Amino acid sequence: MKALDRTLVSNHTANPSLDELVASALARRRFLRAGIAGAIGALPGASLLGGCATGVAPAPLLGFAPVAPSTADRVVVPPGYRAQVLYRWGDPVGAPEGSPAFRLDASNSAAEQALQAGMHHDAIEYFALERAARGLLAINHEYTDDGLLHSDGQQTWSAEKVRKSQAAHGVSIIEIERAGAEWRVVRPSRYARRVTAYTPMRLSGPVAGSVYVRTNADPAGATVLGTFNNCAGGRTPWGTYLTCEENFNGYFGNAPMITPVMARYGIRREGWGYRWHVHDPRFDVAREPNELNRFGWIVEIDPFDPRSTPVKRTALGRFKHEGAMLTLAADGRVVVYSGDDERFDYVYKFVSDGRFRPGERDANRDLLDRGTLHVARFDADGTGEWQALRHGDPGLTAADGFADQADVLVRARMAADALGATKMDRPEWVAVHPRTQEVYCALTNNALRGRTGQPPPDAANPRAENVYGHIIRWREAGGDPAATRFAWDIFVQAGDPAHPDPAKRGTVRGDGFGSPDGIAFDARGVLWVATDVAASALNRGDYARLGNNQLLAADVTRGEVRRFLVGPPNCEITGLAFAPDGRSMFVNVQHPGETPSERSDPGNPRQWSNWPDFDPAGRPRSATLVITKDDGGVIGG
Ligand code: FEO
Ligand code: CA
Ligand code: CA
Repeated sequence: MKALDRTLVSNHTANPSLDELVASALARRRFLRAGIAGAIGALPGASLLGGCATGVAPAPLLGFAPVAPSTADRVVVPPGYRAQVLYRWGDPVGAPEGSPAFRLDASNSAAEQALQAGMHHDAIEYFALERAARGLLAINHEYTDDGLLHSDGQQTWSAEKVRKSQAAHGVSIIEIERAGAEWRVVRPSRYARRVTAYTPMRLSGPVAGSVYVRTNADPAGATVLGTFNNCAGGRTPWGTYLTCEENFNGYFGNAPMITPVMARYGIRREGWGYRWHVHDPRFDVAREPNELNRFGWIVEIDPFDPRSTPVKRTALGRFKHEGAMLTLAADGRVVVYSGDDERFDYVYKFVSDGRFRPGERDANRDLLDRGTLHVARFDADGTGEWQALRHGDPGLTAADGFADQADVLVRARMAADALGATKMDRPEWVAVHPRTQEVYCALTNNALRGRTGQPPPDAANPRAENVYGHIIRWREAGGDPAATRFAWDIFVQAGDPAHPDPAKRGTVRGDGFGSPDGIAFDARGVLWVATDVAASALNRGDYARLGNNQLLAADVTRGEVRRFLVGPPNCEITGLAFAPDGRSMFVNVQHPGETPSERSDPGNPRQWSNWPDFDPAGRPRSATLVITKDDGGVIGG
């Protein structure tokens, strides 16, 4: 989601200063040294820089012909590949309770929507079932375009329309199976489930039961209704799905005043245009001020048990969670990286107290309830530190205004402020290399960087008016994901290599791109990069030559980037998952045909796109794609 980003600027960026270039070169040297000196040398598998260290060129990972930028109303993939539409907004989820068909005029009721795919697909994870070529997909539905969701748009609101909007948020769990080259959704399925903005879920961890989360409807502070604005996500090695609450602030209204903590979390007196607070008192801040504190968390869902209660894991902190990238420390502690997607916000890391026990699903269930949340400081010398958000430490004491650990977690952004964390250019997804455990984080863009009154460029965010974004990476000290120190450098500054302004060309070797958002490694170590350029910026100005939003593949060893897929107009490409054999890739196409206002005209819903149905009476629909190779080979190879 663009978070109402209307501030992209054109054609007047500043070059980085000499100081910044020196700092950046220093960072690069530190990073290289950390690798060669053995920061990851003890780990199995090759160092990413092994080729550099040994002089042996690594074999190329990318075996497909890159596609050109496209502005067409279709999905473009390389020759030899096909993209199948699997699961669109409104398609039945396949729950045993019923499979209402999608109506082209969007006249399905709220109750029907609750049994259908939600809108605006984002994160996706594949969970294998026992039989080969059969699995579950967990899919986030980030937000709604209420101009498309209701036949008459959002000129008027009602309790039914609010309920439908809430039903179109949340998560789908669907069962899928492959027959030949095709995948299909299994309907009905005993696994099929929709989690919505009103599904009961349990609050867990240090904040559960605290004074910050008690409401009139839930005086115990134990049970929250729903999850929404679920952007990126993640998975655990014990087979659960992690879904992240990002821009939760936009759904609340009628705030009598904006307190400092509300301001820090972007609460506006009247919200962002959703009228939930008018028809559902939970979202009326004057009536339920603590309801705000019950969102902005990471939620754990067991996809294998449709009757299970989702759990909000408060130990991971409250902010605009973009994703939840989980990896394991050598001693089995669980490490979760998560970006806070806002201009000048932070990158976090949770380290569990307990250790993962393979094969003991129940023993691992509550690992995410106890541990330490940290926030990153990227220093100009190419090193950095993870600082603990621990109540009682300097800056986070009662005298500093933090009453207890629950307070620190509910106001994680403010606790991180107090620790001097580094203000980043909108942290989106984090990806961990499958062999080296090197960590990559997409910083999508920040046109405000360096503007009057805004933070200046720094070593980790080196470009003023950063309209293209960059991808930063780091190595944890000693190759230990639980370490508190790291060495970092910038993997790539995105940009258009053909831009007439040299400052905007970036450092991409290969196909140009901007606004990296979803990133994920496949099992071979290819870094897949999905872009989310705002509809108001696509195919004009700095983005004039880059086409619609797209998916690229990066060989991080060779530093090469190739464009793999281009979506229809005004979509974003997001959500990446692979079948275990690497021969099917699942990709989400979110908000095709989105208007620059992010709210479609119900009288002309096909103005920008009519993908994927192309039905003259229909409307554009977010959808999950399956990408396969005609020869049945591994994707990207
Ligand atoms: Fe929902 Fe930060 O993208
Ligand atoms: Ca986004
Ligand atoms: Ca995103």
